[in-house]
Amino acid sequence: MQGGAGTSKKLVNRDSFSQFLANLTFEQEQEFKLGNALFRKLWVASPSSTQASDGLGPLFNSRSCQSCHLKDGRGHPPLADGDATSMLIRLARPANTEAERRLIADHAVLNFADPVYGGQLQDKAVTGLAAEGKISVAYTEKPFAYPDGEIVSLRYPTFEIKDLAYGDMHPEIAISPRIAPPMIGLGLVEAIPQADIIANADPDDANADGVSGRVQIVRHPETGELTLGRFGWKAQNATIRQQSADAFSGDIGISSPASANPYGDCTQNQTACRALPDGVQDRLGDTEAPDPVLDLVTFYSSNVAVPQRRDVDDPQVLEGKELFYAAGCTSCHTPKFVTTRDAPQKEHRFQLIWPYSDFLLHDLGDEMADGQQVGEADGREWRTPPLWGIGLTETVNGHTYFLHDGRARNLEEAILWHGGEAETARENFAAMTREQRQALIRFLESL
Ligand code: HEC
Ligand code: HEC
Repeated sequence: MQGGAGTSKKLVNRDSFSQFLANLTFEQEQEFKLGNALFRKLWVASPSSTQASDGLGPLFNSRSCQSCHLKDGRGHPPLADGDATSMLIRLARPANTEAERRLIADHAVLNFADPVYGGQLQDKAVTGLAAEGKISVAYTEKPFAYPDGEIVSLRYPTFEIKDLAYGDMHPEIAISPRIAPPMIGLGLVEAIPQADIIANADPDDANADGVSGRVQIVRHPETGELTLGRFGWKAQNATIRQQSADAFSGDIGISSPASANPYGDCTQNQTACRALPDGVQDRLGDTEAPDPVLDLVTFYSSNVAVPQRRDVDDPQVLEGKELFYAAGCTSCHTPKFVTTRDAPQKEHRFQLIWPYSDFLLHDLGDEMADGQQVGEADGREWRTPPLWGIGLTETVNGHTYFLHDGRARNLEEAILWHGGEAETARENFAAMTREQRQALIRFLESL
């Protein structure tokens, strides 16, 4: 029951990440279904005869939430040239002046977008407008030799943006490719008491275990107060609602009450985009997705159930669990938390959950670095992702591409890419016998 009382006990199949929390009421189930329909809805360009669905773009990455969060699960890197539909590339440069440095230190901004292309690359556009560019990836194979002599090949990705349609980017822009993460258990993550996450941070490595763990601090989108970031690969978003509004705006080009610009990520310098019609209709409100669209999608995103574990008593799984703890994986993949008693939604309150994440930032080494600063996170730091449900990736998504850019082709490769603060844990894994390594992976597959 890794997702508390809401854990889904439904049969394991392709829909395993698409169930609502088991403890929802009948009325909430209806709300979840409406939210799900909006999560799957394909938006169309304006003007269109289906007015309630228009406003797409003009620049966009995808026409629906679900086309990235495939089956409410995980996206993948491009499998053929030009196919980057379930991922995106964030664009940002660091501060250059004292004034800019102050803005970051004050958490007024996370970083600085490209003056023309904005905060992310949109590789699609409505008819008649040029997409910003195409995402392409090339891999270099890199052997990893286990101490016992076994060799596996890892693939190191080099992402490139081709066919830039609006001129050169600012020379200091760092590109950060990111795969869409699974949607399960997010409301429970939001309900973990902030103090319990902060308690695990050890920024100066006071306990000298080689693992620091830093807190991402951002401005709360509604109150403006400093708060803990927990969503996204760099923990840069504090709330599911804001992450969803940002996705509507940046990924689909749809405005909502929490992100009201109908041109999404079209900058002032993209005049052709700014000249196109938007999908705002006075009779519906002043955004393209007026209330209650964002509320329903947020409700949906907050209430997707974590599936229950499988094979928990299998001796190999139990051995793997011990090895997972012994190797030091839990220094970052913190097994459990208890959610707060004051969560806004009753079903999220006071649940014992097993996400296997500390939701903190860690330096995973040079080869994992994207060189992009995002608020407190420097270009080498990533948020520990939760591991719950990870064993069902293949069942739900038909692939096993892991890590922020999908470079790992399976769980073993994902572990072998751990460097930086996680290097000792990786060495502990590598030093195991082949059977032990398999047992550890079997444990991950049971999550
Ligand atoms: C173009 C692909 C794409 C589309 C479309 C998309 N997402 Fe995402 N989503 C992502 C990526 C990539 C991330 C990770 C973001 C990051 O690290 O910057 C993400 C993260 C999230 C998260 C945080 C998950 C976590 O574990 O931290 C939520 C919630 C979310 N998306 C909701 C939505 C909603 C709601 C929509 C539709 C309005 C949507 N997304 C559309 C790619 C997409
Ligand atoms: C120092 C902290 C740290 C330690 C120790 C650590 N991890 Fe991780 N782990 C991370 C971070 C951060 C990521 C995300 C990296 C990325 O993709 O950018 C990650 C990603 C993963 C992923 C892929 C998750 C996904 O959604 O793609 C797996 C699987 C994983 N870790 C397993 C392990 C195992 C097994 C161990 C022990 C051998 C371990 N980790 C030790 C921090 C850590």
